Amino acid sequence: MKDILTLGIESSCDETAAAVVLNGRTVLSNVISTSLDLHKTYGGVVPEIASRKHVEFVMPAIDEALNKAGVKASDIDYVGVTYGPGLIGALLVGLSAAKSLAWAWNKPLVPVHHIEGHISANFLQYADLEPPFVCLVASGGHSHIVNVKDYGVFEILGRTRDDAAGEAYDKISRALGLGYPGGPVVDKMAADGNPDAIQFPRVHFKDSYDFSFSGVKTAVLNYLNKANMQGEEISIPDVCASFQSAVIDVLSENAFKAVKELGYNKIALAGGVASNRQLRETMEKEADKRGISFYRPAPILCTDNGAMIAAAAYYAAEKKQRFAGLDLNAFANVSIEEI
Ligand code: KG4
Ligand code: ZN
Repeated sequence: MKDILTLGIESSCDETAAAVVLNGRTVLSNVISTSLDLHKTYGGVVPEIASRKHVEFVMPAIDEALNKAGVKASDIDYVGVTYGPGLIGALLVGLSAAKSLAWAWNKPLVPVHHIEGHISANFLQYADLEPPFVCLVASGGHSHIVNVKDYGVFEILGRTRDDAAGEAYDKISRALGLGYPGGPVVDKMAADGNPDAIQFPRVHFKDSYDFSFSGVKTAVLNYLNKANMQGEEISIPDVCASFQSAVIDVLSENAFKAVKELGYNKIALAGGVASNRQLRETMEKEADKRGISFYRPAPILCTDNGAMIAAAAYYAAEKKQRFAGLDLNAFANVSIEEI
């Protein structure tokens, strides 16, 4: 079989990323430029700033990805790009770059859904992983339990009805004065806290794999307001640990419920929140107990990156013949089931 090289381009939020992947599984380069520091002052991503930085970063990131991989433009077989969901102005920058290169190089353009990309990070980490499996996707914008039926074939089993898990982390972090993004710092603080110190609510819906994280977020905010008003001292590590446990318990329980009901023996993690230390440990233990294989990409593959987009593009092209014309548009909101 001929070796296939895929260039993956990602620009849906504040990371401008480009990567080259061999045969959908081996990362030859993975370049990530981020405008994160510029957004910190504002407590969240400012779309206009993100777009401007993408314009600045995108071509240098692609050049660097090709150089680091030791390949020439003419060696590339597919140009994969995120077309949604995400910030529309940000997506359009990566999309324009991908279209221009696909046209100039005369290579097929492959449209990739951002969540499909996150899930595909598992194929890079685990050479032998094949669908079907259940994937828990938790990021700043999404919390989904996905039935990965086949390459490029997805069914959403459960989703958040309000805030995404990462969004809840970011909001809690802001209320505690810990800055943006909240996930990494809350994760770190939680390591020194007592997860049973405060009982925050865990929401379960009957006959559903859906999530709700706005209740736990509000409970934390109310706890902080009350403590402030009464002049009580707050243990930030205890608040972080108790909040984190409430979120992780529900994420993990629903994901394992889905695996059991589908009769699968594989469960995977994906998305920015998948870097969370306690989430990884909790799911690993549960998987061991149930005799299920557990897959979790390295943190560099959990964050937004181009390699996951290239992996997804490879399978979309090879297994599904999914290609796009130069009229491909970006979509701020698009479901993984609509691919
Ligand atoms: O997937 P991602 O990089 O971007 C989106 O597609 O949204 O996810 C970013 C989210 C942020 O909300 C961030 O706070 C969260 O992932 N995150 C974490 C951790 N690292 C990043 N959440 C919990 N624990 C972490 N260690
Ligand atoms: Zn993402």
